[in-house]
Amino acid sequence: MGDTAELKLPEGQSIQLPVITGTEKERAIDIAKLRTQTGYITIDPGFGNTGSCNSKITFIDGDKGILHYRGIPIETIAEKSNFLETAYLLIYGELPSASELHRFVNDITHHTMLHEEAKRLYDGFPKDAHPMAVLSSVVAALSTFYQDEEGSPEEVFQNNCIRLLAKLPTIAAWAYKKSVGQPFIYPDNNRSYTENFLYMMFSLPAEIYQVDPEMARVLDLLFILHADHEQNCSTSTVRMVRSSGTNIFACIAAGICALWGPLHGGANQAVLEMLELIRQDGGNVQKYIELAKKKDSDFRLMGFGHRVYKNFDPRCKIIKQWCDKVLNKMQVSDPLLDIAKQLEEAALKDAYFVDKKLYPNVDFYSGIIYKAMGIPVEAFTVMFALGRLPGWLAHAKEFSDEEGNKLNRPRQIYTGPVNAPYVPVDKR
Ligand code: CMC
Repeated sequence: MGDTAELKLPEGQSIQLPVITGTEKERAIDIAKLRTQTGYITIDPGFGNTGSCNSKITFIDGDKGILHYRGIPIETIAEKSNFLETAYLLIYGELPSASELHRFVNDITHHTMLHEEAKRLYDGFPKDAHPMAVLSSVVAALSTFYQDEEGSPEEVFQNNCIRLLAKLPTIAAWAYKKSVGQPFIYPDNNRSYTENFLYMMFSLPAEIYQVDPEMARVLDLLFILHADHEQNCSTSTVRMVRSSGTNIFACIAAGICALWGPLHGGANQAVLEMLELIRQDGGNVQKYIELAKKKDSDFRLMGFGHRVYKNFDPRCKIIKQWCDKVLNKMQVSDPLLDIAKQLEEAALKDAYFVDKKLYPNVDFYSGIIYKAMGIPVEAFTVMFALGRLPGWLAHAKEFSDEEGNKLNRPRQIYTGPVNAPYVPVDKR
């Protein structure tokens, strides 16, 4: 028998709980039988101490600032791989052979078009609809086009996985086109994944947009850096929804909705809005550092802090280097980049941020690159969703493939009224 932990209960009973150890030596106390053996449950609001599953996909050491996809350091993947190869690695667990990669890329390239009827969905949205709302709605609606699929569950997943990877850039670009009142641009299958996305975003029927290959490469890199991050809010949502046995389009639509919020993927939009606010207020960085520290203020430094990283976010280090390169290459001098750098410098010297281990996260610099590419601020979280899709798919697949998987159903401690009377409406 392996290690156990002893738990002493108030009634004097004590039980032994198995200790499990992961491949990176993380340790957990297995409480799966706690309730049946003792009647107790554990409570952990925000799940900061709760492992919801075993997973082979991504490893994070938040104290050391380490991130690995399938055991490979993110720095190596960012330097050597590309987004679709990374997607394959995450979803299928191994780097593809040359022929597997060729087939995967080819399949994705040839499923980029939306069903023509799906185009009409966009007519129903107001022009100022938030693109995350459009993205999740159209993704959920895709399930109506592929609802009677034949084949084993694995084959159905495989086909729909290709469809989602192929069509999400088209859905996102069309959400943007709708918002600016321009005609939709159909995908061009002679282009790479990110090149095609930029082409659909910025081309017009009257004028083809010349995609800068270096921009397409930077976008590919940003997608790689966002591709997975283990049990974050949106990924846990995808796993949770998948556990009810629903289709993958509904799971991904739910993940997109979870990502939307400003404490998760919506932070990249919030960062740019914050930097703009500081700029308009005369660029007084220290004023906002002080405001973020005040207990009675709701203001937080957006793009700072992370539930898991209590050290530099390794993704932020990579993005920061590219941020300078991209702006130099485009000969853009963005005052927001200067403000961001001043803010980072001031926060990293400030005892409040140092003591609480609040470092810049992935969202801190990514928005400045998106802005330089011409992506509108409201669409920043859409970019995060495009990058995170492989991670969501990998986790949905891992959940489905696991023997003995169960409907996810947490418990609670009820703290409401007990035996409350029902008072008729005329007596209330
Ligand atoms: N600015 C000022 N104070 C902060 C910040 C911040 N950005 N982040 C945390 N704190 C303080 C917080 O007030 C609390 O102080 P105290 O202990 O005195 O009450 C302490 O630090 C711990 O904060 P928490 O909210 O309990 O920590 P958490 O681990 O639950 O929060 C977080 C993580 C990301 C929600 C939070 O750091 C935050 O709100 N950051 C800004 C939003 C942001 O950038 N989100 C993107 C996260 S990375 C992208 C992703 O993976 O989705």
